[in-house]
Amino acid sequence: MSRFQNIIDSPPDAAFSLVEAYARDTFPQKVDLCPGFYRDENAQPWILPSVAQAKKLLHNDPTIDHEHLPLSGHPALVSDAQRLVFGVEETTTLDRIASIQTIGGTGANHLGALFLSKTLRPANVWIPDPSWIAHPQVWEQLDSSTSVRFYPYFDKKDHSLDLSGMVNTLRNEAIENDVVVLHGCAHNPTGIVMTEEQWEEIAAICAKKSLFPLIDLAYQAKAKVATQLERLQRSEITTTPSYGARTVSIILGYENIRRQWQQDLLHMSDRMQVMRKRLYELLTALRKPGSWDHLVSEKGMLSLTTLSRKQVNILKEKYHVYMLPSGRISVTGLTEFNVKYVAESSDSVIKDTAPL
Ligand SMILES: Cc1ncc(COP(=O)(O)O)c(C=O)c1O
Repeated sequence: MSRFQNIIDSPPDAAFSLVEAYARDTFPQKVDLCPGFYRDENAQPWILPSVAQAKKLLHNDPTIDHEHLPLSGHPALVSDAQRLVFGVEETTTLDRIASIQTIGGTGANHLGALFLSKTLRPANVWIPDPSWIAHPQVWEQLDSSTSVRFYPYFDKKDHSLDLSGMVNTLRNEAIENDVVVLHGCAHNPTGIVMTEEQWEEIAAICAKKSLFPLIDLAYQAKAKVATQLERLQRSEITTTPSYGARTVSIILGYENIRRQWQQDLLHMSDRMQVMRKRLYELLTALRKPGSWDHLVSEKGMLSLTTLSRKQVNILKEKYHVYMLPSGRISVTGLTEFNVKYVAESSDSVIKDTAPL
């Protein structure tokens, strides 16, 4: 008899199951709107020219070895990332920032959550509703006494920020030392971002109620924080991989490659904006007088369609257009060749499933 016999089966991960289903699908016009990665004009992965240049330099450098990095990661990456994210140069300000390289954004969320749950021992962590699918999972895995709670973020009626819901929940229900998870930019999955005034309003509530804002990007405030993060890192993974770190630090460190990278960013955001506009125009023409304004006002690659699970499923089964069960699409999956097909199939599904 196995000691693991009572372990319950975990349901398959929704996003990764769709990757497999899409790969198996042989329909020629299939469209993948799931990945949270950039895709080029033919919906293929794109190696940024700046990344290609940095990799070439790295491969030709005979001094590069495969030794462990320091516990806090690649020093040049860490300091360049601080300057990039916080936009500061003065040493005094940088001294107040504790930074550590982690494995991906998931690793950053995990290490931040682990650190905060051990130090602040928050009664609740507040996560936007909806949010990146793994935010609650990261906190649930910690086996701490912290309850995962949600604050309203998305106003489904008019595809906008539910600021009053957010403010009221944090004001009335959050308590001292609670953690508030906030998306630094391009909110996943809605693409709806807060204005500067809205950030100020949330910051004021956090300050007044002693809530700890955890912005999904970085950790602020140094004293003993850096050494604690290193200690946690030691028991989790010891050191992070060096290849990606070196590649990024070359991009940030060489003026000409950095400029190329800035152009690459513009190229990607321009393409996404063009695709948002194309989808907006096609849907608007098809579904007069429905409003699709949010497609052009949102930021980043993600958008929440508000299609129901049933509609998402019909799109996949009948039209071979794949999106996450929540109705989230990634506009990077759109191309000049498939955008009309996506608009027409979405329109058919919406009309076919509309209440009589
Ligand atoms: C808000 C947010 N945080 C973290 C992550 C995870 O990043 P990574 O894939 O680098 O682990 C994602 C990825 O989708 C995300 O949207």
